[in-house]
Amino acid sequence: MSLDNELLKVLPKILDSLKRRGLLLASTGKSCRANVMTIGWANIGILWYRPFFIAYVRRSRYTHELLEETGDFTINVPPDNFDDVIEYCGTRSGRNVDKVKELGLKIEDSRIVKSPGLAASPVTLECKIVFKKEIESNDVPSHVRDRFYSKDDYHTCYFAEIVNIISR
Ligand SMILES: Cc1cc2nc3c(=O)[nH]c(=O)nc-3n(C[C@H](O)[C@H](O)[C@H](O)COP(=O)(O)O)c2cc1C
Repeated sequence: MSLDNELLKVLPKILDSLKRRGLLLASTGKSCRANVMTIGWANIGILWYRPFFIAYVRRSRYTHELLEETGDFTINVPPDNFDDVIEYCGTRSGRNVDKVKELGLKIEDSRIVKSPGLAASPVTLECKIVFKKEIESNDVPSHVRDRFYSKDDYHTCYFAEIVNIISR
């Protein structure tokens, strides 16, 4: 099956989880220690005839450092029993704690990217960052700035090509 058709098949699961609970973004750095962060804001679509995932990661996140180092990530749909994992990975920083170890998460090597996938996830997207855009204060309307960026902690938008899809 082509990647586009595979993406169409798994898209409802991804969007449903993104809206209701979030997704788990896994990355790794030069140290090769994997880190997992919960994300709630993202886009999926087509760019240059290729499937793309856009992740919005604030500059303060440890994940931001890892994405800058490695240039790729995986997106993992959390299974039903992962509420605690979603909470933990969305409130603790990999700078201070090894989330994979603390939670006993089983990770799996990806086929194409350096970042691993989560073995328990029904769907994993392997994503390779192609370019990024920084959100700056003048880019957003004042009501957005006041509500979401009062601490000047702006998002970097990572435009990543989806290069492999794993359904488990
Ligand atoms: C449901 C949920 C959605 C989140 N979405 C995002 C997001 O899209 N972008 C972001 O930068 N942080 C988001 N966060 C916050 C990060 O997951 C959180 O700051 C995390 O501790 C960062 O981990 P890290 O420092 O190991 O990268 C979200 C948190 C939760 C609970």
